[in-house]
Amino acid sequence: MSDKYRKKIHSEEIIATFQDVLILPGFTNFAPQDVDISSNLGKYHLNLPIMSSAMDTVTEEVMAINMALHGGLGVLHRNCSYERQLEMCRIVKRARSFVIDDEHVATINPNAKVAKAKFMMENYNISGIVVVNEDKKVCGIFTKRDIPFLEQDIQNGAIKDYMTMDVISIKPGASREEARKILYESRKEKLPIIDKDGFLKGLITKKDLAPEFPFASKDEEGHLLCGLALSPRFPESSESQKLLKEIDKYVDIFFIDVADFYKKDDIIGTTKLMKLLESDFVLGNIGTYQAAEYLITKSDFVEDRFIGLKVGMGSGSICTTSIQTGVGAPTLFATAQVADAIQDYNSKLSLIADGGFIKPGDLPKAFAAGADLIMSGHFFAGTEESPGFIDTIAGRKVKVYRGMGSKEARTSGYISDRYIEGSKMLTEGVSNYVPYVGDVAGVLATLKEGLANGMIYAGARSIQDMKEVSLGIVSIVGQRETQPHDLIGKF
Ligand code: XMP
Repeated sequence: MSDKYRKKIHSEEIIATFQDVLILPGFTNFAPQDVDISSNLGKYHLNLPIMSSAMDTVTEEVMAINMALHGGLGVLHRNCSYERQLEMCRIVKRARSFVIDDEHVATINPNAKVAKAKFMMENYNISGIVVVNEDKKVCGIFTKRDIPFLEQDIQNGAIKDYMTMDVISIKPGASREEARKILYESRKEKLPIIDKDGFLKGLITKKDLAPEFPFASKDEEGHLLCGLALSPRFPESSESQKLLKEIDKYVDIFFIDVADFYKKDDIIGTTKLMKLLESDFVLGNIGTYQAAEYLITKSDFVEDRFIGLKVGMGSGSICTTSIQTGVGAPTLFATAQVADAIQDYNSKLSLIADGGFIKPGDLPKAFAAGADLIMSGHFFAGTEESPGFIDTIAGRKVKVYRGMGSKEARTSGYISDRYIEGSKMLTEGVSNYVPYVGDVAGVLATLKEGLANGMIYAGARSIQDMKEVSLGIVSIVGQRETQPHDLIGKF
């Protein structure tokens, strides 16, 4: 007797999702302050295992900068031209670095009048200017303290007569620690970076060195990490390839961004992209053990730059893929499936559980199912830092959140290949309003606390420990009982 079709519905492989499960409490043998929620994405260590989605109503440069400053990562979306992507990546890479690039350092000629320097300082809100001669070589530094007392000297005096010629500087490539030491010992506020031939290469200021965001996600040079979504389609024009290579200089991790990556054409395109570009790659989305097994064992990706897999299909709060096509892999299910394949074939790969998170308590569940990091659009679309305006509906502040498969997003022309190419009529996402929730720092603080407290209850000190805790399916009655119930008010 065949059970082929009955087993499809009734197999041991139940497609469970966040609300179906709970983590079982575990023995806690550590203090709350010892919980470590940091995690790895390939060689990158993130102090916060949380990422914002590559969506045009979630992550542009402002969100990406803020996510990285708080220790996570915002993945810049791809619903725009390569030129705009390049601009966003540049802005992220240059933000908050402790080095101001030479083209952004205010300079003045030694023969200029003091009045000009005074005007620059007042209008640019800076306290000192590097003095460079016609050959662009550094010959002094002029600070607020060098401004003469008499008005006639300010108007007629030349910078060269008042500047400090003995410039305390640092060589290119010096570390934050070296810079801090020199600034401290010299009691200076500014440290020009000068190469061996005397040319200005940048500036370090005391203010920028102070670790205002000590947990920020940074590259080896101290710049913020930059993640960018990319189509798996290989661009044939040399112009586009040139632009992509320029983008590559600012990006640390490319995220191949399609609804379903388990497709021959996408795999071939990505293999070519990995050969063209030098940064690391996360591939996705996928939803099953078989897809992960295939990508790891039967594809020809550049091995050391294939650093992670992103999983989940049809679970997002704005997704309609499962409704429209009948196919899906809810994020918790997909995470467990792919985590097993990673364990079996390449334990170095990182796993990102993407979409479907509704409550802070869903995060610990994803880690218990084998995730290294989580990605959400839902939590961040209503923040101050997401793109778009704050609107008001019935007295409530709102922002627009749209699926990248929604009619509104797809008609822009850049993102149609995220779904089935050539399919024009079938939308796979919706667009709607979400409540405005204030700044991203506040949202992250709640998520962090939910995760850390969940780890304490589960008895897991780290994200790796979290992967060992037990999950159990909750009955329908149990699900009702674990929500607030039998109260007069509605929740
Ligand atoms: P949340 O639940 O955080 O999910 O809103 C965000 C994730 O959903 C994916 N995404 C889509 N999936 N149709 C889909 O089926 C869409 O229009 C769509 N837009 C985004 C994406 O993986 C994102 O991170």
